[in-house]
Amino acid sequence: MVLMPNTGHKINPMVSKSQIDTTFDLSTYLAERKVLVEKALDKSIRIIYPEKIYEAMRYSLLAGGKRLRPILCLATCELTGGTIEMAMPTACALEMIHTMSLIHDDLPAMDNDDYRRGKLTNHKVYGEDIAILAGDGLLSYAFEFVAAQTKNVLPQQVLQVVARLGKAVGAAGLVGGQVVDLASEGISEVSEETLNFIHIHKTGALLEASVVCGGILATASPTNLERLSHFAKNIGLAFQIVDDILDITATTEELGKTARKDIEAQKATYPAIWGLEASRHQAQKLIENAKAELEVFGHKAMPLIALADYITSRSN
Ligand code: FPP
Ligand code: MG
Repeated sequence: MVLMPNTGHKINPMVSKSQIDTTFDLSTYLAERKVLVEKALDKSIRIIYPEKIYEAMRYSLLAGGKRLRPILCLATCELTGGTIEMAMPTACALEMIHTMSLIHDDLPAMDNDDYRRGKLTNHKVYGEDIAILAGDGLLSYAFEFVAAQTKNVLPQQVLQVVARLGKAVGAAGLVGGQVVDLASEGISEVSEETLNFIHIHKTGALLEASVVCGGILATASPTNLERLSHFAKNIGLAFQIVDDILDITATTEELGKTARKDIEAQKATYPAIWGLEASRHQAQKLIENAKAELEVFGHKAMPLIALADYITSRSN
């Protein structure tokens, strides 16, 4: 199968005699999915007493963003025979977890950032106390939301999703990655192994859960879950390499957060170890590996193939 990566708008990924007319419009796909996710997120949290905490939770949850994790989850659920409706509560939970991790990451005790997604960070608007609680509120609500709102899915699949999300969030995932990341700050000789550990856990774990949970909800076979997991691990690492590159090459306006923060904070990054060009090359190689995992799904995998390409072509 010929896969022609196209990081622009219209994608004509597989040119074979039987699929001459096949085109995939990633921009439209992303825009449509984003609208669905935004609507579901907006509906997910109502403002009741004590208003302040719900407002703080909504402030960050609805601040925009690529919605990559929910979109990946919806895409893998559909790819493996499920529906958008089956996966939407998990998709929302993934964004709640991602958002809470960013609220906490931006706190003065961690990265001390003033801007996120082009807006003032949560603690800058609501104060540190409420920002911590808004993160806690989002994290616990994410699990409640999956358990209470998932419809037309077998209970054992929902249970597996809850377990997978818990693992991705905790010390075996995001939390563990963040701990090593913080411990590595200001250290000039961070090894490639440590850098990989940080990113596989801090970013990769939730991206992998996003992809695999979509498959679990659709009762995908163990072999297909394994393929999805490999796909996700590859795009997860590529995503982080691109993040490190963008920190150097993109502007604060493009990023919606402070550019060149990694350099200022003397953070270990892939470009610092390999240089920019080799980092770009490595990201591209990971994306090719990721796409190879999905060849067995044929044309149905187009959204995920295009999303993988988008990771290396994005500008924020
Ligand atoms: C951004 O990284 C931060 C993360 C991807 C996650 C950080 C994880 C935590 C704060 C743990 C949260 C707690 C729980 C319970 C999940 P970055 O600082 O490299 O990127 P940035 O430039 O976008 O801030
Ligand atoms: Mg940060």
